[in-house]
Amino acid sequence: MIVVSDNKALRGHLDSVREQSRVAFVPTMGNLHDGHLSLVHQAKAAADIVVVSIFVNPMQFGKEEDLATYPRTIDADIAALKAADVDVVFTPSIADIYPQGDQAHTAIRVPFLGEPLCGAQRPGHFDGVCTVVYKLFRLVQPDVAVFGEKDLQQLLIIQKMVQDLSLDIDIQQGLTSRAGDGLALSSRNQYLSDAERQIAPRLWQALQQCAKTLRGAANVSAENTLAQASHDLEAAGFTVHYLELRELQTLTTATDLSRDCALFVAATLGTTRLIDNIQISAAG
Ligand code: PAF
Repeated sequence: MIVVSDNKALRGHLDSVREQSRVAFVPTMGNLHDGHLSLVHQAKAAADIVVVSIFVNPMQFGKEEDLATYPRTIDADIAALKAADVDVVFTPSIADIYPQGDQAHTAIRVPFLGEPLCGAQRPGHFDGVCTVVYKLFRLVQPDVAVFGEKDLQQLLIIQKMVQDLSLDIDIQQGLTSRAGDGLALSSRNQYLSDAERQIAPRLWQALQQCAKTLRGAANVSAENTLAQASHDLEAAGFTVHYLELRELQTLTTATDLSRDCALFVAATLGTTRLIDNIQISAAG
């Protein structure tokens, strides 16, 4: 495994192997857990060479967000990627990615899909994600890239960006990895206190319960089901930012399951923001 932080060294290395090899790419912000490693395993199955980037992207953090305190564990990350038999770890600096600062950088915005849910909660967040992912795609030039379903809105936005910008990259989705009690793995879970960690799995339980109710009866009101679940989560100690049923293709609000949908939730426990989702197909 090689670790490179320089754009030119990365390009030089990949250009020398690209002719004979398919390249798969997993972009990350580091602080790797089993969820990231399952994306890496998927990437390994899809290509000959696996590149993982570690870059805490300032452009996707709002002013009040946790950029300064976001967990950075580069040595442990590199050891985990070595053990997972990754070929190249790319660790660019902020100056490499944003030579004149992220505010002065050209931004990529995916309209509509980037506006609701986390887009409404975190203005500019998805512009920052798209910009850095596009830039990393240009540097790595992968054949395949793997993104987790845990960040389903992000995944849909990246798929749209790739389609709109005619990028020849196969975007694969990786299943959400969960702790034994159902909590979706996330780097931010470590911010939870012991008491909050006990409550946190209720988010996934609420999604499963809502999905079951909505699948169960044709005339059930999605609005009432979600309002009740939201109320129950608040009673358990969450501050619910959204719990919504949206159509998968467009992320417009859905009132029934006549099209493929997903339930999306974002809620904070104490100061920790958690997100999760569950897909519900029209076929049941
Ligand atoms: O999902 C993430 O960790 C980030 O949003 C990504 C895709 C690495 C871009 O910074």
